[in-house]
Amino acid sequence: MKKLFLLGFVASLADCVAAPPPAATPASPTLTIQTDRPGADINPAMWGIFFEDINFGADGGLYAELVKNRGFEFPDPMTGWMKISPSLAQGELSIRDEDAFDPANPHYVRIHSEGKAHFGISNQGFRGIGLHEGETYDFSAQIRLLDGSPRLNINLVGGDGTMLASVSLTNFPSRWEKIAAELHPKATDPNARLDLIMEGRGTVDCDLISLFPRHTWKNRPGGLRADMVQMLADLKPGFMRFPGGCIVEGSQLDRRYQWKNTILPVPDRKLLVNRWNYEFEHRPTPDYFQSFGLGFYEFFQLCEDIGAQPLPILNCGMACQFNSGELVPLAELQPYIQDALDLIEFANGPAGSVWGAKRAALGHPAPFNMKMMGVGNEQWGPQYLERYAAFAKVLKTQHPEIMLVTDSGPSPADDRFNFLWPKLRELRADIVDEHCYDHPLWFFTNTARYDHYDRNGPKVFMGEYAAQSVDVVSPKNRNNLECALAEAAWLTGLERNADVVRMASYAPLFANAGAWQWTPDLIWVDCLRVYGTPSYYVQQLFSRNRGDTVLPVELRGAVAPPSQIQPLYASAARDGQTREIILKVVNPGAAATAAQIALAGLAKIGLDATSAVLAGASLSDANSFDDPRKISPVQSQFHPPGSPFPWTFPPHSFTVLRLKPE
Ligand code: AHR
Repeated sequence: MKKLFLLGFVASLADCVAAPPPAATPASPTLTIQTDRPGADINPAMWGIFFEDINFGADGGLYAELVKNRGFEFPDPMTGWMKISPSLAQGELSIRDEDAFDPANPHYVRIHSEGKAHFGISNQGFRGIGLHEGETYDFSAQIRLLDGSPRLNINLVGGDGTMLASVSLTNFPSRWEKIAAELHPKATDPNARLDLIMEGRGTVDCDLISLFPRHTWKNRPGGLRADMVQMLADLKPGFMRFPGGCIVEGSQLDRRYQWKNTILPVPDRKLLVNRWNYEFEHRPTPDYFQSFGLGFYEFFQLCEDIGAQPLPILNCGMACQFNSGELVPLAELQPYIQDALDLIEFANGPAGSVWGAKRAALGHPAPFNMKMMGVGNEQWGPQYLERYAAFAKVLKTQHPEIMLVTDSGPSPADDRFNFLWPKLRELRADIVDEHCYDHPLWFFTNTARYDHYDRNGPKVFMGEYAAQSVDVVSPKNRNNLECALAEAAWLTGLERNADVVRMASYAPLFANAGAWQWTPDLIWVDCLRVYGTPSYYVQQLFSRNRGDTVLPVELRGAVAPPSQIQPLYASAARDGQTREIILKVVNPGAAATAAQIALAGLAKIGLDATSAVLAGASLSDANSFDDPRKISPVQSQFHPPGSPFPWTFPPHSFTVLRLKPE
């Protein structure tokens, strides 16, 4: 990742493919699926998702809270807030911490007004507050009255200053109390704000000022943004990796992710500066902090909701080596290992156990059935091996049922990688996480990477990958069709090697269009909308057409284009339940390819078949908020006349065919 390991890129796919293209290639290649030579089984959890709070993925994203810095705990407590003081107003705002409602969340705002004119504060949300007409919004705040008998008007104000909803509160208690109200905006607005305006003379203290849409995922109060979770559910992910990513490590150890903090009552979850706040000089986000409203309990719950196996990644006693690289001495590693043991108990232990009881108290007495856990994110060097070995010694003894994910550094082929892999083999690691961020051409030309991996060594978790249209972490990267096709080609190589590569996840998952640090990303959101990139639809096509058993595919008679890119990339699998044969084919070229598809070893092919085709006119095509499905799969039914049957793969396309044996 990051600037420290940028690779020198060569040409783009557009440069590599001969131009101008003919209407169709002259030869007619044959793709033969060996239905009678079943290969490896495909892990049911093969295609998963990688979640990290990057690009405002959690706060300002999946976590549906609309107020930024609700607890006034940011280092500048007024971040996100503005004083509202018209010229006649006489009042005072102060940030205080004496006699707080919650010592874990000590700061609050005191609003004093002389009552001469309206006076108060306004929150801008996460780059605007998105409101939908007709929806209910739940306001709440901890409030206490010090003097006077003022009113507090809670206003939702549109970007153009229009009042969209208002409710007036009065008769405040003299002790801290949670006050709630509901608001119904009369119009949709992507850029609204929340105002708390005092009317009349008096003084109130306010804290934990919150605004949530009533409609969240599964309508859980204080829950997750429903449209974003729906996008995840639609992927039918096999697993969910959480919470990252470099977030796990922290730029220094005291800024690492600590899961125990995230299962406390929400106000007690101690705020932490987000490492992506300051990581990239070219994309600073000084208002980026982690509230942990989306914490580990919510993570497990979400996994259960969307049918994904939870894959937590824990800090292994090392801070990010691109930053401080701070190390926990081996003799002091025990608390880190204990965190891992306690997490297993939190996830899987009986409700009567110490940590299982905490899970039960949060509302889930039944275990979450966690089966795997990552030790470290993107570490390298002997320091990592020593720490992993210390974790493994304890975890493998006490919890042999948990598969441990180890990592192999930030690059798929550098000295760090080459040092770690043989050692991890010696340590008999279960599964090794590899990270690949590179140009599309790298993905097209490395699809055979796993063909020659050791079948008896550790398995591979392709834990982070994404084709970068311009350069790694370049802010100019775009989620275009070229990247999506390169990833699809790459995934055919992973599927073909499903005995070695047991899991894969694209990264990063989400980006807020107004507040991102890293691009490309799988799903883009703004305050009201969400859309999937072409890469998203590639993921979806793979996960929804996974199959259980690999079937070999042979390609014959294709004319190789004058480039390193293959004319077609293909993989096939059988769905054990439906007995369907699933063929996935990428045609990266600018010409349609008329092919013959043969099913060797199959007596007769059924008449009902389906196709899903993701294609576009140009490799630079991309989706957007205004045209969210420009590049998305088109589903059809067709009737194969027998085997072989003709099929034309459109230019720049990824096709999935589902064929039924008769
Ligand atoms: O996906 C973005 C970052 O890339 C992750 O946080 C890190 O693991 C990788 O370097």
